[in-house]
Amino acid sequence: MNHLEEIRSKISIEELVGSYVQLKKAGRNFRGLCPFHGEKTPSFMVSPEKQIAYCFGCNQGGDIFKFTQLVESCDFPEALKMLADKAGVTLPKTSPKESNKRFKTVEINEIAVNFFQEELEKNEKYKKYFLDRGLTAPTIKEFQLGYAPDSFNALKTRLKEKGVTDREMLDAGVVNQKDMADQNTYDRFRHRLIFPIYDHQKNPVAFGGRIIDQGEPKYLNSPDTPAYNKSMVLYGLHLAKDAVKEKDMAIFVEGYMDVIASHQAGVKNVIATSGTAMTEQQLKLIKRYTKNIALAFDQDSAGMEATMRAIELAELAELNIKIVQIGEKDPDECIKEDPDTWIKATENPVSVMDFYFAYANSKHDKETMEGKKGIMSIILPIIKLIPSEVEQGAHLNRLSVEIKTDVKLLWNDLNKTQTQKTYAPEKGQVVAEAKPLSYNREQYLLGFILKFPEFYKIVAENLIENIGADPVTETFYKTMKSVYTLEGPLDVDALKAALEAGEREKVDIYSLLIDEKYPDFSEEAAEKEIRSLVRSINQKNIKQVQKQVELSIRGANTAEEKTQLLNKYNEILKLATKVN
Ligand code: UTP
Ligand code: MN
Repeated sequence: MNHLEEIRSKISIEELVGSYVQLKKAGRNFRGLCPFHGEKTPSFMVSPEKQIAYCFGCNQGGDIFKFTQLVESCDFPEALKMLADKAGVTLPKTSPKESNKRFKTVEINEIAVNFFQEELEKNEKYKKYFLDRGLTAPTIKEFQLGYAPDSFNALKTRLKEKGVTDREMLDAGVVNQKDMADQNTYDRFRHRLIFPIYDHQKNPVAFGGRIIDQGEPKYLNSPDTPAYNKSMVLYGLHLAKDAVKEKDMAIFVEGYMDVIASHQAGVKNVIATSGTAMTEQQLKLIKRYTKNIALAFDQDSAGMEATMRAIELAELAELNIKIVQIGEKDPDECIKEDPDTWIKATENPVSVMDFYFAYANSKHDKETMEGKKGIMSIILPIIKLIPSEVEQGAHLNRLSVEIKTDVKLLWNDLNKTQTQKTYAPEKGQVVAEAKPLSYNREQYLLGFILKFPEFYKIVAENLIENIGADPVTETFYKTMKSVYTLEGPLDVDALKAALEAGEREKVDIYSLLIDEKYPDFSEEAAEKEIRSLVRSINQKNIKQVQKQVELSIRGANTAEEKTQLLNKYNEILKLATKVN
């Protein structure tokens, strides 16, 4: 048994899906509300027999691996790992070189996390730093905070003992090299407080090291490594995931300490970018969990710039964005002073416009000419970002009332306003795939054959398929005809084997389609439906060909050609009366 089969044997689709969606028994299947798209009437089916889950509303689904990919918005390797963990199956480590390097880096970081934690335990003084900043011992543990001793080789020595080579340490970013000529390596993090950075799958991928007193840089971060791409990681996500899903909202803060303090205050749907401005990839990552984000950035110039950038990126990523309003303090300070203020602010984030109006009013006096200009210089660039002119108009009206200025003048100014920067992705990215939303008669017919194979004969004998084939099902049906014989038993596995990937999955999906659209169909009803489908497909096809021939007759150049076409036409008419 290979590991895929082993996982399949240990996790049933109904059990897996049941942990995400409430399922109701529906004959041999289960039915529920689709977890991939919003719907009110359930069109999501789970088949224990076929071990697939499929939504006939959005046409997505598949086996446990495909389901996991869709519901967790992850790729196949990630889904495989998740399900292997769940099933308690150890995956073979025969991965390519790069993923070996990644694996090694994570392994090294795991050792380093332990080492830094031990060092913190040994050094009461540094533990006190965290305690003085208001963190409790359990929080320090939960976030695996640590201390890197004031030494050039403390971690290096530990790693050497564990058999890690210099090269591997360098790749993992835990040591530095003076230059290429000097082969000597030394610990990157020295005399710093350590914030381990985890990816969303709970792998330690990097570190942030805070300086203890004053100095530069305040935070030293790991470089990008085979395991860490800073633009793809969100600090704290591994601990925030569930809360983000539950509250259907992710709150972005600026710093490590903000994330940790918020967690401790009970607001757990909080994450931060680490050592980088917000990126498109990070928003894609968070979109797996929620479509709603809120920003709690500083109101200094860097924070305001970051807010602006995030608003623009969120717009592009089609995320709803709001602002957590706590004034001048950063969340960590706010929480230390009064956690309730933070809790309330996160529960009631304000709209982007409300935030900017409040901010502009706090900075400028709207009664003076200077003040009006100042307010406009803050509000207009935001309005400029809004794609809908109607919406722009609504905000301009508000601004016009607010600063007592004619709205026509404001429109003029808006047209002259430049958005400060544009973070738009390259053209040609992010275009959602269009999906066919309903099934045609041919697909239903195939479904009936698969579900009621005893009636295949009716179809094979009556469907006129040398006329006007349907492009969607043509290959499928041809393959079926080549595999199924009129006498013998119909072998679904042979059919699957004969179909190409992409078509093969449809065997189960078409059959499940019948369960979803025609639950509790008796054999008798099925036979009737099959006959009626065959008839209507024939009629449709004949009509089509008839039209084509009529057109060609009109366009015929020679008498001979015309006669030929007329003969063809008569044949078709004969067929038509036969199938009617
Ligand atoms: P801040 O300078 O606002 O620090 O940087 P902070 O989070 O409030 O830190 P404390 O509370 O004084 O300890 C915000 C975030 O920007 C990143 C870090 O992720 C930091 O938490 N940063 C900052 C760096 O990566 N490097 C730096 O040198 C400074
Ligand atoms: Mn801070």
